[in-house]
Amino acid sequence: MRTPTVVRADGLPERVTIYEVGARDGLQNEKALVPTEVKAEFVERLLAAGLPVVEATSFVHPKWVPQLADAGDLMTLLHERLGARAGELPVLVPNERGLDRALELGARHIAIFGSATETFAQKNLNRGLDEQFAMFEPTVVRAREAGLDVRAYVSMCFGDPWEGAVPLEQVVTVGKRLFDLGASQLSLGDTIGVGTAGHVTALLDAFGAAGMAVDQLALHFHDTYGQALTNTYAALQAGVTTYDASAGGLGGCPYAKSATGNLATEDLVWMLDGLGIEHGVDLEQVVATSAWMAGHLGRPSPSAVVRALAGDRAGGTAESGA
Ligand code: HMG
Ligand code: MG
Repeated sequence: MRTPTVVRADGLPERVTIYEVGARDGLQNEKALVPTEVKAEFVERLLAAGLPVVEATSFVHPKWVPQLADAGDLMTLLHERLGARAGELPVLVPNERGLDRALELGARHIAIFGSATETFAQKNLNRGLDEQFAMFEPTVVRAREAGLDVRAYVSMCFGDPWEGAVPLEQVVTVGKRLFDLGASQLSLGDTIGVGTAGHVTALLDAFGAAGMAVDQLALHFHDTYGQALTNTYAALQAGVTTYDASAGGLGGCPYAKSATGNLATEDLVWMLDGLGIEHGVDLEQVVATSAWMAGHLGRPSPSAVVRALAGDRAGGTAESGA
């Protein structure tokens, strides 16, 4: 079977947006350096598969994330190949230096990324929890003045590998503060994949009680504990319509101990297809793309759906025609 039987469930959204993070979250955590040409082809293939938003790379310090040190070259290449469409691809920007680099390369959508915990702020941003705002605020102000759209991520929403449980109120306070800098969307990150469905519902309720509308929120699940799809279902029941996912289930944060891959785009698409929820993505094309990328990375995709549908194509042999 290459498609699930469609059975709608009551009370879920009719349509969702899949925000693809494979080229950024996926490749930032790979040991091997992926050639810029391959990254560009990855982005092009994801767009061709119908993914409406494809986050391309990060303008972070190249020594902090060497895997994405070619961000400038990649964006130049993507402009050559995609024209103005390249400017629509979101890129991560932590500070004004990153913003300068992104603006030079025509970025129109940026994403800042804050931490809900003190320890992860220190590890990932070299700043304390409060200090991170001093870095983000001028960045967002300048980005907005330049007419850019800003997304805000907040990490460690469901638990932190150093601090353990993270209180809901702390996540809401930090998340809202990041959003209120001038973002159009707040993506709630389960950076180490420890959240469970009831926790998702409680966090969404807490954001609602703090005045945030469900359409201002996105969810960003990592699948470390195998909870990402169940958690997505809980968020669908709460009415959330934007989900971050990574083709083939690549992903992880090099500064978050024990973080593994994101919710795989293919696993998400299979579930949404079964529920009759529209998303505009061609499952077969994403599977073929992940199988092709698995060949470049030299290891099979962790996505169950990729393994089921791609068979030995996902087995780690480079092939280009898929
Ligand atoms: P820092 O060392 O504190 O930076 O790093 P600084 O402001 O002190 O500057 C030091 C030098 O770095 C200066 O150069 C700056 O110009 C330069 P000098 O004057 O000494 O010659 N510099 C830069 N160069 C290029 N690009 C830049 C840049 N910034 C400063 N953007 C910094 C602070 C934030 C830059 C660093 O900690 C960093 O790059 N961190 C990024 C870590 C990262 O990318 N993590 C992964 C992404 S987050 C994630 O994956 C989670 C998410 O998926 C959601 C979830 O799962 O929860 C989003
Ligand atoms: Mg992530």
